[in-house]
Order: sequence, then C-alpha cells, then structure tokens
Amino acid sequence: MRLPVPGSLRLRFLLAVSLWVALGIAAIWFSAVGIFSRHVEQSYHEELEVHVRELGGLTEIAPDGRIVLNRPLSDPRYAEPLSGFYWQVTAEGHEPLRSASMTRGSLDESIAHSPEILHRLESGPSGPAITYGFTRKGPAGEEIHFVIATDQSELDRLIGSFTRDLTIWLAGLAALLLATGLAIIAFGLRPLDRLALAFARLRDGEAAELEGQYPTEIAPLAADLNTYIRQNEAMLARARVQAGNLAHSLRTPLAIITDEAERLARHDESRAASTVLLDQASAMEQQIEYQLARARSAAGKKPSGRGVVLPDVALPILRAMERLHPDKRFSLEVTGCEGMVLALDPVDYTEVLSILLDNAGKWSRRAVTLSFVCDKTGSCVARIADDGPGIPEDLIDQAFVVGTRFDRDAAGSGLGLAIARDLCEAMGITLALANGTQGLVAELRCDAVLHLA
Ligand SMILES: Nc1ncnc2c1ncn2[C@@H]1O[C@H](COP(=O)(O)OP(=O)(O)OP(=O)(O)O)[C@@H](O)[C@H]1O
Ligand SMILES: [Mg+2]
Repeated sequence: MRLPVPGSLRLRFLLAVSLWVALGIAAIWFSAVGIFSRHVEQSYHEELEVHVRELGGLTEIAPDGRIVLNRPLSDPRYAEPLSGFYWQVTAEGHEPLRSASMTRGSLDESIAHSPEILHRLESGPSGPAITYGFTRKGPAGEEIHFVIATDQSELDRLIGSFTRDLTIWLAGLAALLLATGLAIIAFGLRPLDRLALAFARLRDGEAAELEGQYPTEIAPLAADLNTYIRQNEAMLARARVQAGNLAHSLRTPLAIITDEAERLARHDESRAASTVLLDQASAMEQQIEYQLARARSAAGKKPSGRGVVLPDVALPILRAMERLHPDKRFSLEVTGCEGMVLALDPVDYTEVLSILLDNAGKWSRRAVTLSFVCDKTGSCVARIADDGPGIPEDLIDQAFVVGTRFDRDAAGSGLGLAIARDLCEAMGITLALANGTQGLVAELRCDAVLHLA
C-alpha cells in the first residue's frame, strides 16, 4: 500500500477519515460516559434510600433506653471497618448507635430533620459522602435521626472503571476504523494508481495509448486523452510527411536555379549576381537536407520504453566509430553509472552520442574519450573529449547553426550538431561544447531520474 504524501488525494482522504472517526468516537465516548454515570448514580441513590428505610425499620429503643437494631442491615459492607458504607441513628437523651464500619468520626445528622428522606453531599468518616437521612418520632415522642452515607469515591470508582474500559475499547475501535478507512482509500484509489501506471507506460513509450478499463468517473478522461493522443500522432505524422514532401519538391527547382546560376557565372557581367544566387541556393539546399534528415529520423522511430541503460548504450556506437575512424582510438570511462538507467528515449540518445562521437572521430588527432559520470543527485553527464584543434571560442554557438562547417576539407554537411541540439531539446537535456585542454569537449547533461536497472 502506498503511503500518503503531502498534497496527495490519499492524505486528504486519510485526514477526512481520521476526523470523521475522531468525531464519531468522541461523541460515543461522551454520550456513553454521561448515560452510564446517570444510570449508576440513579441506582446508587435508589439503593441508599432503600438502606435508610431498612435502617428505620430495624431500629428500636430498648427498655433500658439503648438504641438497638433487630438484626444487622442486609448489606455486609456496613460491618466492614471504613468500607465507605456507614449508618448512624441518634436520638436526644440516648447513646447514638453507629455501624461497625464507622470506626472513627460521625455523620452529620442535619440532613435527618424531616420525615421525608432527603440527601446531600457531606463530609464523611473517609472523605466526601452521599448522605441520606430522615427523622421519626420514638415511643417517648423523641426525635430519632436516621442517617446513611456512602463515600462519593465509591461512585467515582465505579464510573472511573467504566470510563477506563470504555476508553480502551473505543481506542481499539478507532484503530480498527482507521485501518479499514485506509483499506477503503487504497481500494477506492486503485483505478487512479492504474491510470498513473498507464501514463508511465505511455510516457516511456511502452504503450501507444492509455490502456485498461476505468470506472465511469475516469473512463471519459482516459477515452478523451486517447483520442487526443491519436489525433496528435496523426497530425505529427502528417506534418513530417508534408515537411519531407516540401523539401523533396524544392530540390528539382533548386537544382535548376543552381544550374542556371553556374551558367551565368561564366559571363563576366553576371558573375556577381550568380555568386549571390549560388550562395543562397546552397543555404536553401542545406535547409532542405536538414529537414529531410529530421523527417527520416522521426519517421523511422518506434516508441521505445527501455530507457538508456548505462554504459551499455555506448558499446555498439563505439564499435561502429572504430570501424568508421580506424586510425583513432576510442575509450570509455564510467564513474558511478553502472547499472543505471536514464529515463530517456534510447534511439534519440544514441543518435546524439553518434553525432558527437563522429565529430570527435573526424577532428581528433589520435584519441577520443567518452566518459559517463553519475552523481547521487540523480544527474548524469556524458562527456566526449577529443585531442583535435577544437573550435574558436567565439564560433562555438555558430557550430549549432544548420550548415555550419568551419573545416571545408573534412567531409560533412554541417547538420550533425543542429540535429543533436534539436534532439536534446526534445529530450529535455542540455548539450554544450567547450574547448578543453586537448581539444573539443562536448557535454551532455541529463537530470532525468536515475534508477537501478
Ligand atoms: N570535435 C570537433 N572538433 C573540431 N571541430 C568540430 C568538432 N565538432 C564539430 N566541429 C566543427 O563544427 C562544424 C559543425 O559540425 P556538424 O557536426 O554540425 O557538421 P559536420 O560534422 O561538418 O557535418 P555532418 O555532421 O552533418 O556530417 C564542423 O564542420 C566542424 O567544423
Ligand atoms: Mg558532424
């Protein structure tokens, strides 16, 4: 299961689910504790009322004037010392009678001054106590005060233990709800994950369109996107064919113009004009060749999703270069790139490497070095260094212009670097030329994410 990252739908849903669970659990907690406390208090009070009534019923004044009980109260806690359950009977002119549990102190009889049973919170022998009391006339007309008290802490303990159990249980329930919430989020977002994978396959060229079946909410989006991709591809293909056709159709008229200009050059009076015509015709020819080369390379291209595997990508090119320039030595250096893959089109990347290595082979004196250096930030630099004459600093920018050739003795049409820069721009990588200590150094810098092959 993927972890929610900042800004993700997963995190939004998780926050919403957490809030929802927290609110629900808090509401259950508060209402359950409230309802339970009310019920416990009520049954507690009812019990105490019964006890004080029982006390009244059992109390007698003995002939010797002592206050006595017929029999002990039915609840044994009144006999246990400082159990928190106490009773007391007092009457004027009589020795007060107290429960065996009350080994110290006494109960305030002020609550027991009415024949009706009243209650309130008093301080008892072992802390604050809920006290019930009433009064009744004795045989000699004296007021007998019956008081029963139970420690408030008893009630608190009961409610406290319930609250503790409830809290543990609800915490478990909250964890379970959150876990199921996460599972529901993962299940609900699965189609989006599949969509992301399909996008990745499309981007890497492994698929020609968005593959897979999607829920009704996303399906129209995928279908629209597929239509857009197909239309775009068709449009691109048409544009390429048209550019190629246009270039081809211009070739013959251009050849006729060149022919005519060469004929004019033979006459003194039209020589100057013919030079202009010939120069312009040659510039046009270069442009045509360039467009045809680009159209050819784009037309033959199949989407390829393997990525650029380092340093394997360079091996076949280096072998081809050794055959093309047999008198030059080509060497490969690799630093930190073993088994790495650049998320780039290998066909385009290979073409750029070929162009740069071919130039290096053409102008080097003896040796060409291709080196790959990868670093931990996820960038990779491919460096092609030769030991040739290099290019004068102020002309380096110009070398990328279609048709530029500084060395007319060497074979070539001046298109290589222009095509290489075009391809690099399309791939989102940079190509720079600089004069090194020995000759020209071409540097291809790629920040596309690297991962282990
Ligand atoms: N490694 C190099 N050392 C010295 N000069 C170079 C080097 N690479 C390119 N140049 C100069 O830049 C010019 C342009 O290079 P580019 O690759 O665009 O064309 P080309 O090699 O002449 O022809 P093509 O590549 O189209 O066959 C070359 O003609 C050459 O003068
Ligand atoms: Mg070249």
